[in-house]
Amino acid sequence: MVKSEKIPTVSGWHFRIKLSAVAVFRDPSFFSLNGGWQADGKGPSIWDTFCLEKGRVFGEQNGDEACNSYELWEKDLECIQQLGLTHYRLSFSWARLLPDGTTRHVNQKGVQYYNKVIDDLLACDVSPMVTLYHFDLPQALQDQGGWKSAGTATLFNDYAKFCFQTFGDRVKLWITVNEPYVCAKLGHEDGLHAPGIKEPGVAAYLVGHNMLRAHAMAWHSYNSFYRTKQKGAVSLAINSDWLEASVAGCAEDVAATERQLAFTLGWFAWPVFVTGDYPKIMRSAIDAQSEKFGRSGGSRLPSFSKDEPAVLGTADFFALNYYTSRKVEAGGGCGEVLSMKSDRDARDVLDPSWPICGVSWLAVVPHGLRKLLKYIKDTFNNPAVYITENGFSQVGQLQIEDVQRSEFYKDTILEVAKAIQEDGVNVRGYFAWSLLDNFEWADGFSVRFGLFHVDFADARRGRTIYRSGREYAKIISKFQCGQSK
Ligand code: GAL
Repeated sequence: MVKSEKIPTVSGWHFRIKLSAVAVFRDPSFFSLNGGWQADGKGPSIWDTFCLEKGRVFGEQNGDEACNSYELWEKDLECIQQLGLTHYRLSFSWARLLPDGTTRHVNQKGVQYYNKVIDDLLACDVSPMVTLYHFDLPQALQDQGGWKSAGTATLFNDYAKFCFQTFGDRVKLWITVNEPYVCAKLGHEDGLHAPGIKEPGVAAYLVGHNMLRAHAMAWHSYNSFYRTKQKGAVSLAINSDWLEASVAGCAEDVAATERQLAFTLGWFAWPVFVTGDYPKIMRSAIDAQSEKFGRSGGSRLPSFSKDEPAVLGTADFFALNYYTSRKVEAGGGCGEVLSMKSDRDARDVLDPSWPICGVSWLAVVPHGLRKLLKYIKDTFNNPAVYITENGFSQVGQLQIEDVQRSEFYKDTILEVAKAIQEDGVNVRGYFAWSLLDNFEWADGFSVRFGLFHVDFADARRGRTIYRSGREYAKIISKFQCGQSK
């Protein structure tokens, strides 16, 4: 990682970023297995169930309490104010609001909780960005087929309408689905995330399809019934690495990189921003593999029905989650097994010059974000972009004086500034992941992404700012309201 000597000053950058850098979290107490959820009226989610299964989560940990933001919200608000954030991204728990996933029964305590969070934020001049779905499907809906079932999209639309109706007078930035790629691939191809389904080469495409349908329906609902009055904006958060050919100019690697991009970013961005359908190379690769494996009965990649609201044009901005970059080479997937890997026939490679921070998959490549932003500008017709997640993890020995993460944020925000200033990318905001150390899915509490450390061994869940939190506050104080100081 490039070491910057000092915090980049923005004077002279003419930084057009409209929002100051902001931090994100999800409702860290959306898992509540030990009775608490019954007391609060929250229904169980697929992550509650997943955590109960042996061997699924690091150290058999669970999110019963996590940071306990449900009870300690005021403490979080203090952290937000200490950083000087102007925007805050949080994720609603579907099952906290609608315990069985349907609007038949609304949990008023959940409504009260989110009302308070939103009102408190606004009272402190912090604008909320709300994510409706962040990996945690109500278990009741999983029991009826989950995201593999077409009906889940319709129920999501009902849930979204309920949220627009209840909170949309105050929430102006909405994300429907967070990282459909991760939900589909890790949850239904690899079985590493809830609901732990392992149906390679089949389920993930169906799940991704239903998530896109859910998103499109919710966007159309907003557009038709709420936009005029509420004047907000709606999108879905798409995660993508920056990908480049392992050997520049090698035709095979270049083609593999295009396939890999089509199967990740393109899978969700193409239908919404470009054609209303999946990338052609994705469909043809899948169909060619089906033929090879002698599979009949139509494409494994579903098609969008003309009888449903169109998916094309259903994003008011591009919401990007970026963490890392990869080199790509051909191969790695031509084995005997039907799978997404064999469909895309491309292999990720780590560049040894990219440092790994914390979790093994996170190679630190700030300049990859700049390249990806430029790619998004060129490919998707220069949309407004919010970087809805970006961050740096710690594992092992705790470091409150986390110099590396501080450097990471400086370097990365500098790259974002260059993307704006030199490449003309229309970046509207940057959200760091995350405000607090938190339950990191299958990694439990072993991976720490926070700008504040959380003491999970202490019932009070004390929050302590990391050095990176202090540095981040300094950086963003220079970006307030589109003006450089
Ligand atoms: C994203 C996810 C976050 C967090 C982050 C860091 O995929 O949306 O919840 O897990 O990765 O790993």
